[in-house]
Amino acid sequence: MTRRILITGGSRGIGRACALHLAQAEAAHLVLLGRDAKALAETAEAIRRSGGTAETHRADVTNRPRLAEVAREVGHLDGLLAAAGISGMTPVDGESDAYFDEILAADLTGPWNTVRAFLPRMGPGGRIVLVSSVLGRFGVPGYGAYCAAKHGLIGLAKALALELIDRGIVVNAVAPGWVDTDMAQTGIRQIAAATGQTEAQFRTRAEAAVPVKRFFQPDEIAHGVAWLLNPANTMQVGQCLNLDGGVVQS
Ligand SMILES: NC(=O)c1ccc[n+]([C@@H]2O[C@H](COP(=O)([O-])OP(=O)(O)OC[C@H]3O[C@@H](n4cnc5c(N)ncnc54)[C@H](OP(=O)(O)O)[C@@H]3O)[C@@H](O)[C@H]2O)c1
Repeated sequence: MTRRILITGGSRGIGRACALHLAQAEAAHLVLLGRDAKALAETAEAIRRSGGTAETHRADVTNRPRLAEVAREVGHLDGLLAAAGISGMTPVDGESDAYFDEILAADLTGPWNTVRAFLPRMGPGGRIVLVSSVLGRFGVPGYGAYCAAKHGLIGLAKALALELIDRGIVVNAVAPGWVDTDMAQTGIRQIAAATGQTEAQFRTRAEAAVPVKRFFQPDEIAHGVAWLLNPANTMQVGQCLNLDGGVVQS
């Protein structure tokens, strides 16, 4: 039977690449969530062009009533990928707390809201993957909010995994390294500006720090995500799969 997989952040970047991969390689039906209706429609159209099926729902993961509404509209779900997220610098001596709150709301409370809203749509055999980051594994100066959210997400995956395993639902996280998306471009621009380098200089140094010496493409992340979303994965439970080219080895 066709598996039905919901992806937050399915409109762009890693979420979009996972959606395309799951549609093409596994013939899954995709339920795509995001805030930008046009970008969502474009991803759904790309899936249909490749022979797959998809539906879109405009929703902000920080908006619980809206998620509850969408949960009433979607049918049964076999998989849930919480990929929606934002990033940015929040220096501790910065002028405002607003961006710290915004990042925590989208990147940590958002996945919590998503799991809470759609869990009633999942039964035994369900699979949940939360997208953390290498910044959920170590700290980076100036990225307090993002690091806190992404470390928190790994803790959330561990706790939910134990809470839901008796229902036959398997929860894990993934921790990608640098992936070529809009978010990475913004990160490169911000860090280069903050450290007095050109974007090209920073990128060269960042790539040199990765054991495989390069950034990744979003569709490369999709393979690892697809494994954790697959019912064949019965052994990896409450883990965080590093998808970073060797940066983190534990
Ligand atoms: N790129 C990297 O190097 C990297 C590395 C490690 C981890 N990650 C993580 O991977 C995930 C995807 O990142 P990306 O690189 O693909 O970023 P991206 O290209 O900027 O895409 C972000 C996605 O999240 C959605 N989104 C953001 N805030 C949202 C909200 N409040 N409600 C609903 N959707 C929201 C966006 O859709 P709309 O704009 O339509 O809402 C978009 O689809 C994030 O969790 C990120 O932290 C990225």
